Amino acid sequence: MSKTRIAVVVGAVVLFGACVSVYQVLAPLFRDPFAPLYDENCAVCHGEDLEGANLGTPLVGHPLVHGSSIAEIQTSIAAGFPTTGMPAWGQTLRAEEIQSLAIFISEKRAGYGRTDFKVDAPLAIPRESIASEEHDFRIEVVATGLHPLPFSIAPLPDGRILVTEKTRGLSIIAPDGTQSALIEGTPPTHDDGIEILRLVYGRGWMMDVAPHPDYATNGWVYLHFGDRCRECDPSMNKLIRGRIVDGRWTDEETIWQADPSTYTETPDMGAGGRISFDDSGHVFISVGIKGPSNFEGIQDLSLPYGKIHRVHDDGRVPSDNPFVDVPGALATTWTYGHRSPQGLEFDPVRGQLWSTEMGPRGGDELNLLLPGKNYGWPLTSKGMNYDGTPVAYGEQLGIAFDPLDPLSPHDLASIEQPVLDMTPSPAVSSFVFYRGDAFPGWQNDVIAGTLKATELYRWVIEGDRVVHRETLLAGVARIRDVEVGPDGLVYVLLEHASGGQIVRLVPSERD
Ligand code: HEC
Repeated sequence: MSKTRIAVVVGAVVLFGACVSVYQVLAPLFRDPFAPLYDENCAVCHGEDLEGANLGTPLVGHPLVHGSSIAEIQTSIAAGFPTTGMPAWGQTLRAEEIQSLAIFISEKRAGYGRTDFKVDAPLAIPRESIASEEHDFRIEVVATGLHPLPFSIAPLPDGRILVTEKTRGLSIIAPDGTQSALIEGTPPTHDDGIEILRLVYGRGWMMDVAPHPDYATNGWVYLHFGDRCRECDPSMNKLIRGRIVDGRWTDEETIWQADPSTYTETPDMGAGGRISFDDSGHVFISVGIKGPSNFEGIQDLSLPYGKIHRVHDDGRVPSDNPFVDVPGALATTWTYGHRSPQGLEFDPVRGQLWSTEMGPRGGDELNLLLPGKNYGWPLTSKGMNYDGTPVAYGEQLGIAFDPLDPLSPHDLASIEQPVLDMTPSPAVSSFVFYRGDAFPGWQNDVIAGTLKATELYRWVIEGDRVVHRETLLAGVARIRDVEVGPDGLVYVLLEHASGGQIVRLVPSERD
């Protein structure tokens, strides 16, 4: 690592707040803190690359005999199989060491490189028809040459697509794929982020764009962005609405804004930044880890970080929000304890709000969001910190469990568990509930994108459970956003160093 590179990384450490030690942030960049434990105890029998050796079976490349889930792998390690030569590690290794080994093994099995975020992996858009369980489909390219860091697409009823690029702003893709000039008059964006391991950490980003459910008649477009004034560095999430008239942003109104004292130097990368409307005049926004560090303020109901907020579509605070009567609590809070909520969708058919959330190393989640509930960050997670320590900041935060307080966040039993735990972390991004005529077999299913894993998933939901999972696409590119167009086709926003792209899934039967 060159000196300038280290300077940049140290700068990033400062950005993340002084609470995280330099070592904690820097060490994982150089070597995998999870690997030495495997190398010292397991490689002799299972091979250096988990490929198997004389005394141990391969741990990659085939379904594991004793189960491949994290829980099953942990059991295999702890209990061992003494009669067939696998020692029991439950006495010699601590529980968190066994957990870190299970995550390490499952990452290797999934082929997720620890520091390979696929930012510039060869862009592989298949031309041939792709077979899947319910439908065969092909991929059509809709638009190319976007900025490498796009954030959101929003198909409009007339076939055009609103698109945001984090460091540029808002523009419109015409049906023939051409991109308009930037819409003039939207909030300023900033292109001065720093790059670490090819990922960009910046502040003052344009994030989600969403037309109002009655856009066809009222013309309102909502923008969620990192609000950062020109003269000052800190930023914080902000929601506005406006109308686009002749390529200009007009009629701007502020819908949700945090107190100026809560603006921080923390990058917008984990800011959440999504928007979703319900069917009764409310708008929800996701705000992630934007406090001074990635664990502060999330469990504090007086602060905006790590919350899903809910307001009326004109910004008024609904009187039936769960914390309106709690002294000191932010009245816009709907749920809390969120880390990096990258996807947020209201499902009008089931009348439920759902979110996807990126965990640390492991612990990516799909959540059903119930008003007033605590989703656990940073008190607990099914993932681990990047340095191999368990996620358990309760004591450090001075949050003591009070059995008489029903809102006591330290009561782990009161924390909502994810509907779906994604460990190892695919870096889940945004999702959509599929509704349309083009893919009848996917009706009401979740279609979800991932960044690092470059995979597109279909999840079948029944009640509050995922009853079936399918991977529709793998190895195309980092997927930042997924939407359904008025034509019923699935639109996917791809991130890539060579330029962002919008592609769509088209049923092959149509040929
Ligand atoms: C002395 C050799 C030896 C060592 C050391 C050893 N293993 Fe094993 N391990 C085996 C053998 C043999 C099996 C197959 C046991 C069976 O299937 O009955 C096995 C099975 C397993 C399985 C279950 C595989 C499956 O297909 O379900 C896991 C997981 C595993 N080992 C992990 C580890 C980890 C992690 C370590 C280090 C902490 C480790 N092993 C150390 C010999 C070893």
